[in-house]
Amino acid sequence: MTAGGVLRPATPEAIAEAAELIRQGGIVAFPTETVYGLGADAADDRAVAAVFAAKERPRFNPLIVHVPDLEMAERLAKFDDRARELANWHWPGPLSLVLPRRPESGLSLLVSAGLDTVALRAPNHAVARALLFTCGRPIAAPSANPSGGLSPTTACHVLEGLGDRVPLILDGGPCRVGVESTVLDLTGATPVLLRPGGLAAEVIERRIGPVAAPERGAPRSPGMLERHYAPRRPLRPDAFSARSGEALLGFGPDAAAAHRNLSASGDLREAAANLFAMLRELDRDEFTGIAVMPVPNTGLGRAINDRLRRAAAGSRAAGGWNEERGPAAPCRLPDEDDD
Ligand code: TXA
Ligand code: MG
Repeated sequence: MTAGGVLRPATPEAIAEAAELIRQGGIVAFPTETVYGLGADAADDRAVAAVFAAKERPRFNPLIVHVPDLEMAERLAKFDDRARELANWHWPGPLSLVLPRRPESGLSLLVSAGLDTVALRAPNHAVARALLFTCGRPIAAPSANPSGGLSPTTACHVLEGLGDRVPLILDGGPCRVGVESTVLDLTGATPVLLRPGGLAAEVIERRIGPVAAPERGAPRSPGMLERHYAPRRPLRPDAFSARSGEALLGFGPDAAAAHRNLSASGDLREAAANLFAMLRELDRDEFTGIAVMPVPNTGLGRAINDRLRRAAAGSRAAGGWNEERGPAAPCRLPDEDDD
């Protein structure tokens, strides 16, 4: 535990300071009715990368984006009648809706871990709401614990786990609900319960009809579905140069020949912030595949390499991109819910 003053009662002044920190690309821990969240500007790739770094997550799972109200939510994602019905009845509250991202949302690609969907929720906690309204930005926030630890339900839990990595923890007392929000996927014809949580599935079913459990053997969350993540063209990690036809995605100062460089200075946070956007940029017709230079396997490098390894396995398993078959079939590697 370092610097005194990290933990502050959530006074209007402290909330205003937290909002300003987030607007400037910083990270802040704050209470919600479910658990404490570690928040960052959801439109800022580098700030979102800092959240992954602080949690030492070994993987890029998509994060929940917190909004003050339905109005901001509708600017970020496409709502259908079911989504609107649920938001009208249960927001603010412990319900996260997975919906198609609007292309013009401005949201970080890292926040969705490269998916075309985003999980949104309006939290029901006075401090979280004040922070969201003051900040005026969507706030990405996973639970404020180191990866693999328990979700924090008091500011002290956050201090114990992340006190040396977060400049400000807003103390709003113990969380009323104490378990994470329910995550509901509304991107398909049938709603799918991705994570049971603070709002009972029965309550949801009363509003919009039957809700399915994730398919047996299927990943518990599309955050774990590989095909959305994989570029369409084959990916070749740990390459030092491009083969004929390949694009080269570089890392570090010795990458003059690279089409893009994740970070010329070798900064892993910058690399994480650039990863999904650059993979998309290089995944185009003029290239036969994407060669990626080695990325050190420390800190955020682990999550970057995990993503690259999965994307490479996905393209191998499906024999690469095939115009008739569509994107590479989902490749399911063993998974751990590390969060
Ligand atoms: O109660 C909560 O939801 C807390 C508080 C802070 O709001 N937040 C939270 O966030 O638990 P996180 O990042 O720890 O959990 C996000 C969950 C994961 O299971 C993730 O896979 C899923 O939501 N998720 C997020 N975005 C998704 C997406 N686009 N598609 C599918 N699942 C998604
Ligand atoms: Mg968590």
